[in-house]
Formats: sequence, structure tokens, C-alpha cells
Amino acid sequence: VTLGILASGRGSNAQAIMDAIRRGEADATVGIIISDNPAAPVLARAAEYGVPARCIERARFTSREAFEEAVADELIAYGVELVVLAGFMRLLSPYFISRFPGRIMNIHPSLLPAFPGLDAQGQALRYGVKVSGCTVHFVDEGMDSGPIILQEAVPVRDDDTPATLAERILAVEHVLYPRAISLYCQRRLVVEGRRVRIREGEE
Ligand code: GRF
Repeated sequence: VTLGILASGRGSNAQAIMDAIRRGEADATVGIIISDNPAAPVLARAAEYGVPARCIERARFTSREAFEEAVADELIAYGVELVVLAGFMRLLSPYFISRFPGRIMNIHPSLLPAFPGLDAQGQALRYGVKVSGCTVHFVDEGMDSGPIILQEAVPVRDDDTPATLAERILAVEHVLYPRAISLYCQRRLVVEGRRVRIREGEE
């Protein structure tokens, strides 16, 4: 399966996915990485792995739809089947989603539906939860609201700051996201309404 990764920043999840593919843990190739941010470190990471990378800036387009059309056309040009959002800081419109129906995944650093949106780790600390975690889900039109594929819990410690909690969650993200992608590539994810059933198979 050819993946297209959309990322706005650091790109540690993109790297974890490329590393997992290198180790043979997912039957996938990264066709292209697209960033909306010219300063995103993820662009240099792509180059290190010999993966094509492109920056497409929102400001160069007059509308969100025109921007998303350019992104979708580029993904299609690289033969992308599954769109992987990895720290992509934009909400995608129904137009973009309709171009990749059931074929967009996202990772979010909380146990959804708790704490969607920005600064999920800060939200968790302010709320006072004792357990948070991360969620891989299919993307629908809402904010962090699509069918959940995998989740894993991470403890919150009394002395956590948003940064220390984020770091603990991130280590789990780097394992969970490649696993979800691998399951997709093995055609083992079956969406039944809001629920994603995982078909039997070898991990
Ligand atoms: C991760 O915490 C991810 O859950 C969230 O954005 C962050 C991206 O980090 N959606 P990175 O760019 O993959 O390092």
C-alpha cells in the first residue's frame, strides 16, 4: 500500500512509520510526504529516507478547497491509497475527505473522545485525569471524531508538565501508528458504523 503522509512539524511519527516499514513491520511504502509549513523538520527527515517531499503552502491559494485540491492531486499523482495525518495542523474539509473515502488516518495524543483539538496533553493535566494515552482513528468531517482503530493508555504522573506527558505519550504513538497502518495494509480493519473491527490474522 502506498502511503501519503501529511505533517506540519517535527515529524517523529512520520519517522517512526518509515522506520517500521524499513524493519518490514508494515507492507507499505511512503510515496510522498507533504507539509503545509516550509520550515517543518519533517521535510528534512523525508530527504534522509529518500522519500519525495513537498511543501504546499495554504497562503498560496485563494481558498481552502483550492489548497486541498492541490494536496489531493499531488497525493494521487504519487499513487497514494492511504493518507496518514501525522501532526498535520489543519482540519480537512468534506471535499478532501470525499477524495479519500475511508482512507485517511490520524493520531491524537489523548484517549478520544476526551480532549480533542489542540494541546490534548495540557487539557488532560488541567482536567486532572490520572490516565491519558493516544488514539489512532479514521478521519471524518469532525475534529478528531472518526471511528477509532487503536488506543493505548498512558499514566499521568503528579509531577507531569504538558511536555513530560507529551513525551511519554509520544513513545507509545510511535508504536501504535505503525501497527494501525500495518493492520490497514493487511486489509484487517473493517469499519462497521462507528466501530472498527479488527479481523483475525498474524500480527
Ligand atoms: C503528535 O503528538 C500527534 O499525536 C499529534 O501531533 C504530534 C505530532 O508529532 N497529532 P510529530 O510531528 O509526529 O513528531
